[in-house]
Amino acid sequence: MFEKFFKKNNTLEKSINNFKNKDFTKVPKHVAIIMDGNGRWAKEKKLPRINGHYEGMKRVEKIAVYASKIGIEYLTLYAFSTENWNRPKEEVKFLMSLPEKMFNFFLPSLMKENIQINTIGDINSLPEHTRKVVNNAVYETRNNTGLKLIFALNYGARTEILNAVKKVAIDYKNSVIKLDNINNSIFSNYLETRSYPDPDLLIRTSGEQRISNFLLWQIAYSEFVFSKVYWPDFSEEEFNNSLVQFQNRDRRYGGLNEN
Ligand code: FPP
Repeated sequence: MFEKFFKKNNTLEKSINNFKNKDFTKVPKHVAIIMDGNGRWAKEKKLPRINGHYEGMKRVEKIAVYASKIGIEYLTLYAFSTENWNRPKEEVKFLMSLPEKMFNFFLPSLMKENIQINTIGDINSLPEHTRKVVNNAVYETRNNTGLKLIFALNYGARTEILNAVKKVAIDYKNSVIKLDNINNSIFSNYLETRSYPDPDLLIRTSGEQRISNFLLWQIAYSEFVFSKVYWPDFSEEEFNNSLVQFQNRDRRYGGLNEN
């Protein structure tokens, strides 16, 4: 028991040290992750798909704590898209039970790490039991000042953008804003992510290379890393690998970097 605990924490320490030894100067402020590959992970092990989601849920806590320890300020995780309702009923039901499992097991460790839980997406359309537990986690962690862990739940970027456009139209109609004043930064204030900076780094696991309706406005200048590893196997070391790739990118935002 103690040996297992020690080993577990040793691994975490090792990853943090590996990270530090790489002498990072640029830790991305905001990392967004498309957690993909739970189903394939399970299939390869001849397990039901939901086992993959369960393991994936456990990875969420580990990666969130690790992100916090290495100084990332915002971590946005794509947990359930507006399109995921099209999955088999039983799978959706299981996915809707995951926040309960997650926060029952892990709220104490997230609290200990001073992590604040936030959400984007249409929480109100989630089943009541899911909504309740998510709202409770948001409430319990509201005064935490560390990493902001943002769950995209029942989230779709096109819907988010359309909702923002509708609000802009209403404000225009009511003379709250003038047409000439609508610019990128004003428009960003109508999005659900208005209180967060845009992601510096977007990671998608499992080898797929697409965006799947995630943060379409916000990733205009994000760096993309596509990891081949399935989400349940996305270790702290693999996270380090993604961060190293980010480190080696030359971010020009459409301009020139002449050093
Ligand atoms: C994609 O894998 C993953 C999801 C649709 C769900 C992601 C959810 C978690 C990792 C748990 C989230 C935890 C909380 C607390 C909400 P996939 O099923 O598309 O995998 P596949 O492409 O291999 O089939």
